[in-house]
Amino acid sequence: MSSAAYDARNILGALRDGKGLPQGASAWFARGLADGSVSDAQAGAFAMAICIKGLGMDERIDLTRAMRDSGQVLRWDLDAPVIDKHSTGGIGDSVSLLLAPALAACGVYVPMISGRGLGHTGGTLDKMEAIPGYVAMPDTDVLRRVVGEVGCAIVGATQEIAPADKRLYGVRDVSGTVESIDLITASILSKKLAAGLEGLVLDVKVGSGAFMVDLEDARALARSLVAVANGAGCKTSALITDMNQSLGQSAGNALEVIEVLETLTGSAVNEALWDVTAALGGEALVLAGLASDMDAGVEQIDDALHSGRAAEHFGRMVAALGGPRDFVEHFPDRLPAAPVMRTVAAPRSGTVSRIDARAIGMAVVDLGGGRRVGTDRINPSVGFSGLASLGEEVETGEPMVLIHAANDADADRATAAFLAAYEISDEGGEEPPLIVERIGWDDIERGDHT
Ligand code: URA
Repeated sequence: MSSAAYDARNILGALRDGKGLPQGASAWFARGLADGSVSDAQAGAFAMAICIKGLGMDERIDLTRAMRDSGQVLRWDLDAPVIDKHSTGGIGDSVSLLLAPALAACGVYVPMISGRGLGHTGGTLDKMEAIPGYVAMPDTDVLRRVVGEVGCAIVGATQEIAPADKRLYGVRDVSGTVESIDLITASILSKKLAAGLEGLVLDVKVGSGAFMVDLEDARALARSLVAVANGAGCKTSALITDMNQSLGQSAGNALEVIEVLETLTGSAVNEALWDVTAALGGEALVLAGLASDMDAGVEQIDDALHSGRAAEHFGRMVAALGGPRDFVEHFPDRLPAAPVMRTVAAPRSGTVSRIDARAIGMAVVDLGGGRRVGTDRINPSVGFSGLASLGEEVETGEPMVLIHAANDADADRATAAFLAAYEISDEGGEEPPLIVERIGWDDIERGDHT
């Protein structure tokens, strides 16, 4: 069928009857989403039909390409590979803030187009905006200049990036169709691939604080993302990593920036953050052709972090995007602090055996560190620091966390939420491995995503 012969009804009819998306239909529909000629009712039916009937691998690739091409697709003319990372979202997960400058220090370019907090998960852009003056939504010319000069820029997507996804995501949000692996795949990748990447490493989270609580679901999403991204021409691998507890000891925007800077400068290194950053970075350097295998890549990232070169790139990025020029040297004085700080004592002695990480994320939202609706304003100073971790032994009365709140009533609610989310037992539990599984770019044949 030529694209002129399409209309929304025949595309939706084919999807409804399980016949999939005819060739060219994705491009037609994505254009219609972007220019408004497809109605919300049609977009909802499209999402629901895909949710129920699913798409084949070639159709997922077509839809991803079509949504990518519905807006601006960046092209780079640089002297080294252009690489990025994407995480499916977690709690206390500030890896992007460490990884972008570490990769830049290793010689690749990183236009890291990031998102805001979603549901119980934190957002990279919200963390960067905790830095006074930082412009997280620069225009494309500024993005190009900063990536060229510094090597990395952590920014948000402009209206011109994948507008079809923006529209469809809004419709999915109110039509019960967010939870489709086919649609999640096309949504995530359309935005990432619009950044003109040559390589992408994915961090698919699994556990109580992740969107994918079970390993089977996380694996299905990781395999779909890897197969579609490679099918669409971007060399991509995935790590499935643990999200059964906050990754860092801090959860909350400015608090996570402090933890990142302490790790970058070596004043108080968070090992879990460092290890996940090094693993993802090692994988990214293999994709970029700058490391022979992951171990060699990890060594390069370790060196970039240890030597202070990653910290130096972070400081240059912040200054180039409007933040304080002396941020790395003076970050504790430059970040906002909450007026109420309160420790929570362990109610009994024992070992931390289970954490409801999603509840910790929701408690950060309740403190004002995330949004309930898109128009909510974030309070960057609030959240948790010094979070006790799984397997940690605690004594009755010993501090398990420091709450940072705007007022006493908020701190009371956060205390109750924290205590309900933590289980302390005599036996303790098994500490989950940080890196659960790897799905390499060469592990999946096109057409095989199961
Ligand atoms: N993040 C996205 O960008 N899209 C989805 O569909 C889910 C998470």
